[in-house]
Amino acid sequence: MKQDMIVILDLGSRNNTDIARAVRNLGVYSEIHPHDISLDKLSRLPNIKGIIINGGENNLIDGVRIDVDHGIYAAGYPIMVVNHESAEYVNRIKNWPETEEEIYEVLRIFIFNTCHAEPNWNMKNFTEDQVELIKKQVGDKKVLLALSGGVDSSVVAALLIKAIGKQLVCVHVNHGLMRKGESENVIEVFKNQMDANLIYVDASERFLKKLENVSDPEKKRKIIGAEFIRVFEEEARKLEGIEFLAQGTIYPDIVESGTKTASAVKSHHNVGGLPDDLQFSLVEPLYHLFKDEVRACGIELGLPATMVNRQPFPGPGLGVRCLGAITRERLEAVRESDAILREEFEIAGLDKRVWQYFTVVPDFKSVGVKNHARSFEYPVIIRAINTVDAMTASIEQIDWPVLMKITDRILNEVPNVNRVCYDLSPKPCATIEWE
Ligand code: XMP
Repeated sequence: MKQDMIVILDLGSRNNTDIARAVRNLGVYSEIHPHDISLDKLSRLPNIKGIIINGGENNLIDGVRIDVDHGIYAAGYPIMVVNHESAEYVNRIKNWPETEEEIYEVLRIFIFNTCHAEPNWNMKNFTEDQVELIKKQVGDKKVLLALSGGVDSSVVAALLIKAIGKQLVCVHVNHGLMRKGESENVIEVFKNQMDANLIYVDASERFLKKLENVSDPEKKRKIIGAEFIRVFEEEARKLEGIEFLAQGTIYPDIVESGTKTASAVKSHHNVGGLPDDLQFSLVEPLYHLFKDEVRACGIELGLPATMVNRQPFPGPGLGVRCLGAITRERLEAVRESDAILREEFEIAGLDKRVWQYFTVVPDFKSVGVKNHARSFEYPVIIRAINTVDAMTASIEQIDWPVLMKITDRILNEVPNVNRVCYDLSPKPCATIEWE
């Protein structure tokens, strides 16, 4: 293994991720693990140079104060205990210092002077270590992966292709709600360029049938989610000898889904879903990475920058942006207008400046005039926002000439559309998506 590691044990502190990132900023790989990890499991983690037992205010579960497996205190690792009292250990810091500089200083002394860790964390070493770990975990068995073409699943695919080549079976399900050229791009990059074992399933018709006349946004989401699992399951059953399922779970997914010491923010859409008789062992090589690190890992693995840096796209795809009951003509209007918007944003250099941008087509028509005759058609709404964490968002102030060009192109090139509007609403009161 190339990298040294500092383990952070979560005993109810709110700053676990800050500490993990600070350790990485100091050049040493770090992983956060739950407080109840057994000594046996802990000691199988590679290259541990030291442990931070990170206590905090959420240190009661069912009224009982939590502690780590007592064997860990005596196992011989250099240990720093913060904000946690244990009979086993007296050398501890009462709490983290106030300022970031002071925290870094405490960490620097522990990591380098006490643990003698080397600052050898970088994407090249991370990737090489993960390749070795995946090979060890999987052996000569086969691994299945649902490859949507999103950042996380693409990086997992590239990592597994590097580690086990054709033992990885990727399934790309086209639910008919992809953006223009998206499925083609997945096939081009993974099948043609990386020679992956890729199964392409065009399930568009199936999804559109299930969604016919369904206008409630939550029902649409549920149908798309359930149908996706059904299609994926059908494909999985056709394959033989699969023992593992790879997933693009990343650390923020774990935090948002709730840890043992913190409640959930939102349920994580990648976790679970497959029926009991299809329970595979999981391969989750990005589990401890943050989003920016996942992107860096993708670049290290040679994925195209456009794929690695792409803007967020909801799992239910254009289904949430084609408002009300989805029809083919409005779905095409969303897809084509979105493609024009993306093209023009790239030309104007806005793709690098704007966090998320897309079009929406509502389910009402209005009167217009086209070719000297009355038209009765749909509007297209443009949305372009900036945000740090997607919890709040402000709109991007696009230059008029760019907006005029996009408007002109949409009105000329996209059928069934007679108006283009620009959404000026921040979040809150609006959300980023319309649905
Ligand atoms: P809202 O509309 O809630 O969106 O302001 C916040 C961010 O989340 C994205 N989003 C999703 N991402 N699966 C995802 O991976 C989903 O089902 C989903 N729905 C919304 C949205 O695009 C925005 O960036």
